[in-house]
Amino acid sequence: MSNNLEYKNPLQIRIAEPHEVPGELIIHLNYAAKKPSPGSPGKRVGDILIIKTALGSHEIIVSLGEQEKCTSDTFRQAGGSLARWLKKSGAVTADIHHIEFDKFPIEDAFSAFCEGLLLGTFEFNRYKSKDSSTADVTVRVFCKDETALVVQTIQKATILTNAVNLEREWAHEPGSVINPVTLAERAQILAQKYALKCTILDEKVLSEMKAGGILAVGQGSKTPPRMIILEYPGKNPQEKPIVLIGKAITFDTGGYSLKNTASIQGMKYDKCGGLTVIAILQAVAVLQLPIPLVGIIAAAENMISADSYRPDDIITTLSGKTIEIITTDAEGRLLLSDALTYAQKTYHPRAMIDMATLTGGVITALGRVRAGIMSNNRELAARLVEAGEKTFEKLWQLPLDEEYLESIKGDEADLKNAGTPGEASTITGGIFLKQFVDDHCPWAHLDIAGVADTPKETPLSPKGATGFGIRLLIKYFESLSDE
Ligand code: BES
Ligand code: ZN
Ligand code: ZN
Repeated sequence: MSNNLEYKNPLQIRIAEPHEVPGELIIHLNYAAKKPSPGSPGKRVGDILIIKTALGSHEIIVSLGEQEKCTSDTFRQAGGSLARWLKKSGAVTADIHHIEFDKFPIEDAFSAFCEGLLLGTFEFNRYKSKDSSTADVTVRVFCKDETALVVQTIQKATILTNAVNLEREWAHEPGSVINPVTLAERAQILAQKYALKCTILDEKVLSEMKAGGILAVGQGSKTPPRMIILEYPGKNPQEKPIVLIGKAITFDTGGYSLKNTASIQGMKYDKCGGLTVIAILQAVAVLQLPIPLVGIIAAAENMISADSYRPDDIITTLSGKTIEIITTDAEGRLLLSDALTYAQKTYHPRAMIDMATLTGGVITALGRVRAGIMSNNRELAARLVEAGEKTFEKLWQLPLDEEYLESIKGDEADLKNAGTPGEASTITGGIFLKQFVDDHCPWAHLDIAGVADTPKETPLSPKGATGFGIRLLIKYFESLSDE
């Protein structure tokens, strides 16, 4: 398994060597003309126009859409569309000469373009019996000056997108392949490769600890739950770490509160929060960022069996707080509550950020454009939102007023795991988690249920996992190092 754990990108970007001469295909990026005219590309970002030159080579003109609407993300989208086109065309190399563009600095436009190129080719075809993979493509960059900056930009984009594509690759694996136990094994192998410390808490340890939340969710499955802990030391071992916590339900049937045929589909993606955390630690280790980081991945499979937990059960979480189970389908908050308690007890974190495909309600509220963020700390939330605007992995803050707590106060236990149906379920999830966080510890909860996977292909991703949150969190960490 260790050989094909990571996605091998069929597209590479590199600087052309001094002796190399441009080849058959030359890449240009152009705004769409106000009126259709020869040589100007279509109106939609990513539209491609091919022009044969007098010398017999071809120019590929990639549309950036209307000039007034162009942002750095336009370059990412254009890169993604171009990558798909290159792969389909069977091209082996394509060359780019002009990496400076209009008012955009290289750091913004070119890095986004590289990210788009490296994300746009992702495909999950491991289980196709006919090999549908095409030849590798190399995009060569002919640059006259600022070579160091260009090299650095390509390297950084490669590191980030490798992490994103790793998340996608694992996310696409079905529940029959990735379960809590095999996920822990994979994490261990990955950790070794990237010199991360990895600790696995198995069901025995979890039960000695009395982590009743994660145990309840996992008890109906043949494969028992795991708490996977990855540690990256940073540059100063004295510094308190930021702890990232991820929900990794390797398959969410809903349990006895069973999902229906339509809503159960795609529930292999209920592990995306946890996978995002794994991928972030991988990227941070490669980038050698200065801050210490811990990733806690709470992994369980929410299944039906004679051993499953049931509605009306009362469970005791690691914190000691008791919870009345209203629905076995609101399982994410149960295992996250244990992870939050464990994080604070063990690491006294500088901040905690959890990522989870927690509620369908966030899709109703924000669709598939923005993830929801809820937080007990203004500065942490503001920084994350800002990092989202910069990376175009956008967030929108939802409130956590105390009034929302009312609906999840327990009748026979401290809390209930769900509030009033149809009322602010995303916020209810957030306020539930907040009960397990010390007010002095800055904490943010990202509900990524709407953005972790896409129901239809986009320029950056086929249908399925997107890898949302990885570029965003790295940008946030960098904003801390800039201080
Ligand atoms: N994994 C789901 C949330 C989800 C829904 C993710 C759709 C992606 C797409 C979660 O465990 C869940 O079922 N949540 C319930 C909570 C409710 C019962 C309080 C929901 O959102 O319906
Ligand atoms: Zn779930
Ligand atoms: Zn559920």
